[in-house]
Amino acid sequence: MSEKTNETGATPVLRHVAFIMDGNGRWAKKRGLPREHGHAFGVKAFRAIVDHCGRLGLEAATFYAFSTENWKRPPREVNAIMKLMDTYLGECEKKLDQYEFRICFLGDKSAFDDKRRGRMERLEALTRDRTRILNIALNYGGRSELVTACNRLLAAGKKNVTEAELNAALYTAASPDPDLIIRTGGDLRISNFLLWQAAYAELYFTDVLWPDFGPAELDAAIAEYYTRKRRFGGV
Ligand code: IPE
Ligand code: IPE
Ligand code: MG
Repeated sequence: MSEKTNETGATPVLRHVAFIMDGNGRWAKKRGLPREHGHAFGVKAFRAIVDHCGRLGLEAATFYAFSTENWKRPPREVNAIMKLMDTYLGECEKKLDQYEFRICFLGDKSAFDDKRRGRMERLEALTRDRTRILNIALNYGGRSELVTACNRLLAAGKKNVTEAELNAALYTAASPDPDLIIRTGGDLRISNFLLWQAAYAELYFTDVLWPDFGPAELDAAIAEYYTRKRRFGGV
């Protein structure tokens, strides 16, 4: 069993919620707008949910913003997402004192230019001493994360590894395992998200499209989470 698995009795503890923010494109299409507009409204929803996670006192919140497979999209859409990302990074820099979270970016930053990567690294460094974690998965894939972790361990001379060592080599090393993974947009899959960390996560799927997902929808997901019986393989 992973050291980070959150094993509890009947009432599950909620330390970490992770979000697959899906449905931006369909939200825009329904309104006759280009897909990029859906992403812009998706960022608004993201901000509101980050604030709500702060109010809920979660130890960690993780947001899947851009996958290793999302580069396959048309350049116009990818560029629009990168622009939104840059705006958000600038906003974080400016309001750093108002943000209570330690910011961690999950994913391979080498795909980004020096300027963007520099900003991401600066935000991580400036918030490193904070305890509560905001993970933003950008150019993230669960398979790529596992391969990167294996290569790190091999480069460190390891010939055998324990679960704890593999855990510590992942992008999420600082976070507990997710207790609850929420996917909006109606699709019932995990799309290469937190493959290792999700081992015993509770999964919650909703048809609500991400730009429409607000604090009330998160509260409903959490209320359902508290009705679940987590057994972690036990009885
Ligand atoms: C999720 O929304 C955001 C990203 C993957 C960047 P989508 O863009 O996948 O929206 P749909 O699934 O096409 O509606
Ligand atoms: C998952 O959504 C990735 C993110 C939310 C960033 P996708 O829209 O890329 O997933 P698929 O293609 O429907 O599996
Ligand atoms: Mg999608």
